[in-house]
Amino acid sequence: MNEVTIGICGLGTVGGGVLEVLSRNADLITERSHTPLRVVHVSTRYERKDLEAGGITVSRDYRDVIADPGVQILIEAYGGTDHAGDIVRAAIRAGKQVVTANKALIAEQGNELFALAAEHGVSLRFEAAVAGGIPVIKALREGLAANRIEWLAGIINGTGNFILSEMRDRKRQFADVLAEAQALGYAEADPTFDIEGIDAAHKLTIMAAIAFGMPLRFDAVYTEGISTLTPEDLAYADELGYCIKHLGMARQGEQGVELRVHPTLLPMDLLLANVNGVKNAILVEGDAVGPTLYYGAGAGGSATASAVVADSIDLARQLSANQGCTVPPLGVTPAAVRDLPI
Ligand code: HSE
Repeated sequence: MNEVTIGICGLGTVGGGVLEVLSRNADLITERSHTPLRVVHVSTRYERKDLEAGGITVSRDYRDVIADPGVQILIEAYGGTDHAGDIVRAAIRAGKQVVTANKALIAEQGNELFALAAEHGVSLRFEAAVAGGIPVIKALREGLAANRIEWLAGIINGTGNFILSEMRDRKRQFADVLAEAQALGYAEADPTFDIEGIDAAHKLTIMAAIAFGMPLRFDAVYTEGISTLTPEDLAYADELGYCIKHLGMARQGEQGVELRVHPTLLPMDLLLANVNGVKNAILVEGDAVGPTLYYGAGAGGSATASAVVADSIDLARQLSANQGCTVPPLGVTPAAVRDLPI
């Protein structure tokens, strides 16, 4: 195969980051994909004469990218769940391999989307949907495949961790730090997703489905955010030798899997208590390996693009090896929905 072609719907923080990473590391990406990856078509609201000059078709309407028979891998970087869902469904039906960073979409509609992808013999990849650039999906699905997962717990919203860290360490106001997180491209389009725990619940839903072999159950996550925390709460915790972190936790209990997202008091000597700023960190305990830790940039265009491009490289390897691209949607065995004692 001479090359693998990519279409990108949406050129905001994620889509723009993907273009940048593909261009910056083009040589090594070609080597690792065993073929060049070439962006041939993008959709964006803005004029991009620079891209057109480089031979990339620029459309206003994302449907033009999906309809382009020259696109093999479709990257959904549109955001939200309305249009993103339409894009992913249409791309799957058009026989494209699909990559998305959209955790809301995967957590809330993933059961249906993975079934659709399987029906059409294509892959839907989503590494970037959880913890930005940290390859935790690959770790759960592949690296820990030999383990029974006992529990996982982590800081999985970068914006929330940035806000709590700045409020505690620099005594800054909640609204002021949130505005900075938005300006830096860390926050969701609707930042209530970050501060009310919804974004973390989306990510926990996805990790739990893989770790415990269960369907995606966003509706079953007990969810509390950080919007009611005050600088005084953080200061009191500090005086007592604790730190308040917003955690997502999933645990296999006797009666099923427990899924929880809420602020938590952590003793200062714990690893997770020392994860600050926009960083994410996830502890996963497997029965064979024991505890493992995944740490890194949990938000931002470049970190998210790192994971989106990694998924694209995986797909390109499979396409160029002419192996087809059907991988099990979540890498799990079908399991009955368990009752979740919360
Ligand atoms: N708003 C998300 C966060 C982006 O702050 O973690 C990455 O998923």
